[in-house]
Amino acid sequence: MNENKINLPLRPSRLRKNDTIRRLIRENHIQKDDLIYPLFVRNGKKLKVEISSMPGVYHFSPDSILKEVESLLELGLDRIILFGIPNDKNETGSEAYSKNGIIQQTIKDIKTQFPEMYIISDVCMCEYTDHGHCGIIKNNEIQNDITLNFLQKQVISHAEAGVDMVAPSGMIDGMVNAIRNTLDEQKFYNIPIMSYTVKYASSFYGPFRQAAESKPQFGNRKNYQMDTANCREALKEAKLDIKEGADIIMVKPAMAYMDIIKKLKDSTNLPIAAYNVSGEYSMIKAAEEKGWINGNKVRDELLLSLKRAGADIIITYFAKEIIQKIK
Ligand code: PBG
Repeated sequence: MNENKINLPLRPSRLRKNDTIRRLIRENHIQKDDLIYPLFVRNGKKLKVEISSMPGVYHFSPDSILKEVESLLELGLDRIILFGIPNDKNETGSEAYSKNGIIQQTIKDIKTQFPEMYIISDVCMCEYTDHGHCGIIKNNEIQNDITLNFLQKQVISHAEAGVDMVAPSGMIDGMVNAIRNTLDEQKFYNIPIMSYTVKYASSFYGPFRQAAESKPQFGNRKNYQMDTANCREALKEAKLDIKEGADIIMVKPAMAYMDIIKKLKDSTNLPIAAYNVSGEYSMIKAAEEKGWINGNKVRDELLLSLKRAGADIIITYFAKEIIQKIK
């Protein structure tokens, strides 16, 4: 073979020959400011109990979550999304909007002691209802419009407790409009809405539902969450949410839906959030435990891919360990 005969001036691999040049042309980075960290709170004292399906993720009681918040702030992680597991679940999910509910109390406590922690609250009924659905049920069907009034009550209870941002996650038609109206009516003009705009009816939420004890007791959520097969419908949802006043739009889950992230990014100028959900986290942790993959490398590859797809914000259970690494 005569090498000299080959004329090949265009060699993309020239720019991959060492780490310096690779870093120089790198298009995307994971930065600590991209990340939001989810935290779970439940009643009790001095609790920090690992969720068995989510290694490294814990249920905290209201007192021990304060210690966790302090350590997150020391790491430079100052954005959390809070999920509550109430003592009492009932038909109308009344703890969701009670002044003294677990979330309302926790928001107040954190804000009193650590006002610099930016708190986002999940706004949904599913953790609080005994049937595990995301709204009020009649004749085994979710009642969309009645549910809106409950979401309004929930959001105001969070706002009064001092929340910084609200994140409605129930895929209830008109939820952004209803929430924006009530916030403005009560003069909470400056609380932004991060909407779970495109939330698919996904099996990737399994470990979360175990953690939040929010598995639907009958049926499933396919008649309000989106069908995995659909893409144009995601654009329709995004259009509506933007019209209704969403400040940030979210795609959930993240990993299997990067095409949707990209489509939304190209079609709007709002910040796009991607929720790297529990199943995505637990699969990596489980395969790592088995020694089948290098968990940290797979994690970094996945999160970087979300950035490449166009995510501006990533909600992820990996946030704390990544920030520990960046530090
Ligand atoms: C609803 C909510 C869910 C998640 C975030 N908010 C659960 C659901 O829709 O069943 C899932 C998050 C995850 O899987 O990590 N309150």
